[in-house]
Amino acid sequence: MNSLKFYVILLSLLTLAIITLAQEDANYLYHNCQNATTSTINSTYRVNLNLLLSSLASNATLNNTIGFYNTSFGQSTDQVYGLFICRGDLSNTVCQNCVTFATKDIVQRCPVGIASIVYYDACILRYSNVNFFSKVDQSPGFSLLNTQNITTEPQRFNNLVGAAVNDLAARAASAPPGAKKFAVNKTSFNAFQNIYSLAQCTPDLSSSDCNRCLSAAIAGLPNCCSSKIGGRVLFPSCYIHYEITEFYDATAVAAESPPPPPPSWLFLLLHLLVQRHYQKKKAVSQQF
Ligand SMILES: *[C@@H]1O[C@H](CO)[C@@H](O)[C@H](O)[C@H]1NC(C)=O
Ligand SMILES: *[C@@H]1O[C@H](CO)[C@@H](O)[C@H](O)[C@H]1NC(C)=O
Ligand SMILES: *[C@@H]1O[C@H](CO)[C@@H](O)[C@H](O)[C@H]1NC(C)=O
Ligand SMILES: *[C@@H]1O[C@H](CO)[C@@H](O)[C@H](O)[C@H]1NC(C)=O
Ligand SMILES: *[C@@H]1O[C@H](CO)[C@@H](O)[C@H](O)[C@H]1NC(C)=O
Ligand SMILES: *[C@@H]1O[C@H](CO)[C@@H](O)[C@H](O)[C@H]1NC(C)=O
Ligand SMILES: *[C@@H]1O[C@H](CO)[C@@H](O)[C@H](O)[C@H]1NC(C)=O
Repeated sequence: MNSLKFYVILLSLLTLAIITLAQEDANYLYHNCQNATTSTINSTYRVNLNLLLSSLASNATLNNTIGFYNTSFGQSTDQVYGLFICRGDLSNTVCQNCVTFATKDIVQRCPVGIASIVYYDACILRYSNVNFFSKVDQSPGFSLLNTQNITTEPQRFNNLVGAAVNDLAARAASAPPGAKKFAVNKTSFNAFQNIYSLAQCTPDLSSSDCNRCLSAAIAGLPNCCSSKIGGRVLFPSCYIHYEITEFYDATAVAAESPPPPPPSWLFLLLHLLVQRHYQKKKAVSQQF
């Protein structure tokens, strides 16, 4: 009898955990609709949009290693462009669930949208009648904060967050073309608390565009989130997020990290080469 009770409780807990997880996949954050005029509501554009959304959903179910896919349907004024991006630490399954949900949710939230975006914890889905591939977009952006304050040494906390997100921006932006532009950082605040942070750009951006986008996101942090225990700034092309809890899947990130570092003599050589290159560059820039 007792063991039956135990199993019932365990089962309820498991169910709860599964429900919570499933909701987390598509935990809604924000959306924006740019609406069509009534005359275009039932147009070819809507047909293309539906084709686009099902293509995005089905491509999210492939073994999509970078959690990103962009595609387009239709011709000239009826052409629709769209993409999804999933948070870099999440599994294919989580990504897939989020995108599948998003393709249905976006038409509920924006029934007459001609250009719409919807943000969730796990993914972002976006479409437009204007080609936005490989372009930096910082609008519509928004920020979110964890309202609780850091009460001890808030200034040092803010500085550490600043250093961490700058480290992230540099690492996310330097990913090679076609790879995930994603990085996480764990910084110790004191003996009891760490600061966990994450940055990501859509992988269709160049390194310099990714850097530009993340810099703008970082510049938004003091306004929203100074001395807060958590905060995020999200744009269509990039976002940053920090918390004092480990909100990302660190083991997944570690598993994906590059193989062990090359021998130290190689570093020394690279270091010397970079230094020489840098000195040359400095000399050049001084001429102007
Ligand atoms: C677009 O339409 C949606 C749903 O009908 C509405 O909620 C939203 O406010 C509209 N957006 C704009 C910018 O007019
Ligand atoms: C669009 O199509 C739907 C379903 O076919 C129809 O109910 C609606 O009246 C149409 N709207 C316009 C503006 O033509
Ligand atoms: C992925 O999308 C393309 C169009 O962009 C489509 O041709 C293809 O069938 C999709 N893949 C799957 C598995 O549906
Ligand atoms: C996806 O990847 C998993 C693990 O690598 C593999 O077992 C599976 O067959 C792959 N599925 C497809 C459709 O490629
Ligand atoms: C995805 O975007 C790139 C530009 O970033 C473009 O060259 C490519 O054709 C797009 N893919 C599809 C399927 O439209
Ligand atoms: C955090 O600090 C601000 C400014 O000092 C204050 O207005 C706010 O009420 C505090 N929030 C909480 C949750 O204590
Ligand atoms: C996190 O960022 C800080 C500040 O730039 C840096 O010192 C540290 O090495 C980074 N940690 C990791 C794990 O990348």
